[in-house]
Amino acid sequence: MALSRLDINNLRNLRTARLLPGAQFNLFWGANGAGKTSILEAVHLLGRGCSFRSVDLRHLLPPGVETCVVTGKLAGSGMALGTEFDRNGANYRIDGNLAANRAALSERLPVIFLGPDSHRLLSDGPQLRRRFIDWGVFHVEPQFLPLWRRHQRALKQRNMALRTGHELSSWDDELVRSAQGITRFRLAYLTRLIPRIEYYLKRLCDLEAISLNLAPGWREDADYFDVLRTGQEQDRVFGYTRYGAHRADLIIKTAGKPAKDVVSRGQQKLLMCALMLAQAMVVNDCNSNPSVFLVDDFASELDQQHRFKLLQLLAEMNCQVFMTATEQLTLPHEFNAELTVFHVEQGEIKPQA
Ligand SMILES: Nc1ncnc2c1ncn2[C@@H]1O[C@H](COP(=O)(O)OP(=O)(O)OP(=O)(O)O)[C@@H](O)[C@H]1O
Ligand SMILES: [Mg+2]
Repeated sequence: MALSRLDINNLRNLRTARLLPGAQFNLFWGANGAGKTSILEAVHLLGRGCSFRSVDLRHLLPPGVETCVVTGKLAGSGMALGTEFDRNGANYRIDGNLAANRAALSERLPVIFLGPDSHRLLSDGPQLRRRFIDWGVFHVEPQFLPLWRRHQRALKQRNMALRTGHELSSWDDELVRSAQGITRFRLAYLTRLIPRIEYYLKRLCDLEAISLNLAPGWREDADYFDVLRTGQEQDRVFGYTRYGAHRADLIIKTAGKPAKDVVSRGQQKLLMCALMLAQAMVVNDCNSNPSVFLVDDFASELDQQHRFKLLQLLAEMNCQVFMTATEQLTLPHEFNAELTVFHVEQGEIKPQA
């Protein structure tokens, strides 16, 4: 769902900012350090309850300031979403009332981020890839979140039992059932996602055949229950559960080789664009709240032709886009898309005619 208003208080150098974003493309342009990425960070805080650049939200607070508050109004429903945090933690609000957790916000404002470091999804450890796939599953499968929570509880209890020398079998049953359910949901999601990734890759560039496979987190030819039972003593030595859905990975290859090793940085970026566009398409198909795109440092490492293609695909998707650049830009007329421009200067955001 698009945001029709955004209020930011005390987020990095943005002290008090209110803006009325357009329903399609919103460009924030200005000099380095002006506060452009911080605006995207504010939208990310609303839709995901966290930042894409600091795990510790305290780093977002300007010096001497206690609280940061971001609120946004959803176009259509007029619903108000809010995230506020101080040095002790964060709260989430819907229409002014405390929400139980950030998932409640996420459901209403699916946010997809593409930035200069997005290619780390390919090169970093499996955690980012698990997060990528689970965010999509969360949005298309209402049963996923309760199942994931059951799984986390069982895993925590089993790890505790491993360390304290207690009996494991009661936790093993629950862990196996929830891990198998999570894996089924992840596989079903991938089945929907892959054809869309192929579609977007064809439109963006001509990378050789791409494959995405889920490594479930234990040997695929083995029964998970047996893996837990036979690995029990080793797990006790390590003090944690070494195999399971919490160790799953998404293996991304092009022409049979790991994508991170055989494609250029620019191509990695295009692959990321295809992954994110495909994810938005799957989520938008199943969700009454379409995804909002955050595209940071739009021009970096994409040549003019590929920048044009990405904008074209975003225009076709007809979703709200917040993007940053150091230069002002215009959209080709044939996109038939509305562009709302803001100039950002030392934490001040000014709409431009
Ligand atoms: N915790 C903080 N408190 C106050 N200001 C901060 C804090 N963290 C970062 N800043 C400042 O916030 C400003 C905005 O940073 P931001 O990354 O949003 O700028 P930007 O416009 O995206 O720049 P670039 O073009 O270099 O990407 C910077 O000047 C930075 O020094
Ligand atoms: Mg920036």
